[in-house]
Amino acid sequence: MKILVNAALPYANGPIHLGHVAGAYLSADIFVRFQRMNGHEVMFVCGSDEHGTPTTISADRQKVSPREIADRFHQEHNESFRNLDIEFDIFSRTTYPEHAETVKEFFLDFYNKGLLQEKSMVSPFCPTDNRFMPDRYIEGKCPHCGFEEARGDQCDNCGRILDPQDLISPKCALDATPPEFRATKHMFFRLDEFQENLLKWLDKKTFWKQNVLSFTRNFIKGGLKERPITRDIEWGVPVPLPGYEHKRIYVWFEALIGYVSGAKILSERKGKKDFWKEFYFDPEVPMYHFMGKDNIIFHTIIWPAMLMAREKYNLPYMVVANEFLTFSGKQFSKSRGIGYSVDDILKIAPKDYVRYYLASIMPESSDADFDIEEFQSRVNAELIDKYGNYIHRLVSFINNNRLSISSSETFLDGRDREAMEYAAERIRNYRELMEKVEIKKAMAEWLELVKYANSYFNESEPWKLIKSDPDRCKSKLYTSLVLAQYITALSYPLMPSAAEKIMNIIGSSKFSNEGFTNGLFRREGSEFKPTKTDPPFQKLDIIKENPNFVDLRVGRIVEARPHPNADRLYVLKVNLGDSDIQLVAGLRKHYTEEDLMGHYIVVVNNLKWAKLRGEESQGMLLAADDGETVALITPKGNEIKPGDPVFIGEFGYNDGGKIEIDQLKGLDIKMSRDDGNIIATAVLEGKRMPLKIGLHDLATSREVREGATVR
Ligand code: 2FM
Ligand code: ZN
Repeated sequence: MKILVNAALPYANGPIHLGHVAGAYLSADIFVRFQRMNGHEVMFVCGSDEHGTPTTISADRQKVSPREIADRFHQEHNESFRNLDIEFDIFSRTTYPEHAETVKEFFLDFYNKGLLQEKSMVSPFCPTDNRFMPDRYIEGKCPHCGFEEARGDQCDNCGRILDPQDLISPKCALDATPPEFRATKHMFFRLDEFQENLLKWLDKKTFWKQNVLSFTRNFIKGGLKERPITRDIEWGVPVPLPGYEHKRIYVWFEALIGYVSGAKILSERKGKKDFWKEFYFDPEVPMYHFMGKDNIIFHTIIWPAMLMAREKYNLPYMVVANEFLTFSGKQFSKSRGIGYSVDDILKIAPKDYVRYYLASIMPESSDADFDIEEFQSRVNAELIDKYGNYIHRLVSFINNNRLSISSSETFLDGRDREAMEYAAERIRNYRELMEKVEIKKAMAEWLELVKYANSYFNESEPWKLIKSDPDRCKSKLYTSLVLAQYITALSYPLMPSAAEKIMNIIGSSKFSNEGFTNGLFRREGSEFKPTKTDPPFQKLDIIKENPNFVDLRVGRIVEARPHPNADRLYVLKVNLGDSDIQLVAGLRKHYTEEDLMGHYIVVVNNLKWAKLRGEESQGMLLAADDGETVALITPKGNEIKPGDPVFIGEFGYNDGGKIEIDQLKGLDIKMSRDDGNIIATAVLEGKRMPLKIGLHDLATSREVREGATVR
């Protein structure tokens, strides 16, 4: 049987992190591997979603072209996935010309069928840039909560969806010009035409998860409206209509078509041009979609409606949407340094361990939490102490006693047959759960089988039988090896690299992708030739004492006044998010009061308080001095807020309490050159590391020379 599996195309605008992996890509990869073991022919498609404001915003921030951002992250994502053994048949790009062709074909087909309608809408226009601005590019005060930095599409403080016209004193985010609101023409897709058919189609989806179904039904019942599918932007797929030369197709509308263009490009590469049609037009071929829950309505409403409109295409069979992953209880946040990118976690742990732990906490029915200590303890207690140890003890025993084990010389007793039946039952459960994409539960079945195999082996006491009853001993070892083979085969979708290695160790018949059908589980005639090796897994040892004793935080200066008794000093009031502190700083020669007001700085927040010439200083700010220039260390990045912690390398503050000013000297904070930029660094345990807020390095507000000391 053929199966089509599509994984949501990630935006090519930032690193892939574990939230993405747990949300969609690992589930999809596990499912695909499982179905291939079932002997099915799977087409597994993903790619980079490269257009629209997600990319242009990153590009504007980093002052490079959207193309550069897209190229860079396409490449990075491709590697991150590969490093984690997530193997798509194609990792396509929405900037490929074949994609634009396919989008054009969809667009014109809808146009000719009367499913597109031109309408006028009011959009913000920036007179300075002389163009319409995306809603996200307009900033102002939220009319609901008064937050000063609300965006035109949404307020990050109260979460409300906004129209840029709602903002109080709106400004263009690029140059602070107040926008004009002008009428502009756009093409709208007649989603409303599909309301009835979508509801009918959904009625048959009784096997979908409840959250996906009810979310979708409620959305439809609210009434479907026509949706604009063009935008006033330059970075995107062109609109094939006269008068639309300066507009582009809306990124979501074309990204969905990326599944089809990806399948087409894959077919071309295989030299079988029409191969993709076997997956899209044969009604017997189920189409699975994997994504995070924020993508649901696009895949359960808009995409199915687009496919209905095309008439010939299959509709999605199953839409799998995982919940979110939190990190030690907190929402993933790049700017706050919460969570791991794939590249970061792979620096400290092997890929199979990461896959194992993520699969075991997969956020399938509720949000899940990634906790680094739990990661280590689960891997060590389950993967290593139970599974790895079982394999190692078994194989070592056979090798040390120079035994050869084959089914032809073994006679299973009642206990052995019971073990085989127990295993068969677990395998059945595992397969049923995997079919339903309930990976976490399938994995629990696997772990039960591992524990069972351990007890079976211990209880058999082969070390006694080898003297008292060598034939019986061989039968016990044979049964143990069959169990090891089952366990390892079932672990293949979860940990493909480890599974292949262990299949070799137990000397099983060659491991095959079609395990369930071609006799991987064959018992008769099996022969095992275990090889002598070290234990298959190494203990995970990543929880280190956190050496960072300094509580560095982002602060914002809200008041600056001269010190009454010292002409070099200011007395500053600094906001740290939910509280204010007072600092005394020797900046009068270098900054005016106006310069300082509103300035973002970095504060040492756990210094013992001191009175300086009669004014209390409750901490210290970081400034660099190269002998000529004194410059404040200034955090930059739109998402950074007062109170955000500053990391030294990977280390946040260890909550170790107040420190003396002399202890700071040991950190030797200074400005170092890195990739052409001069950034703040410090030394912890003999290693120089960058100061960081999330992924942002820290620089100064004015230029200083490399080597400038920070005090
Ligand atoms: O949320 C995201 O990362 C989107 N780029 C997903 C797009 S899915 C589909 F349209 F390709
Ligand atoms: Zn608000």
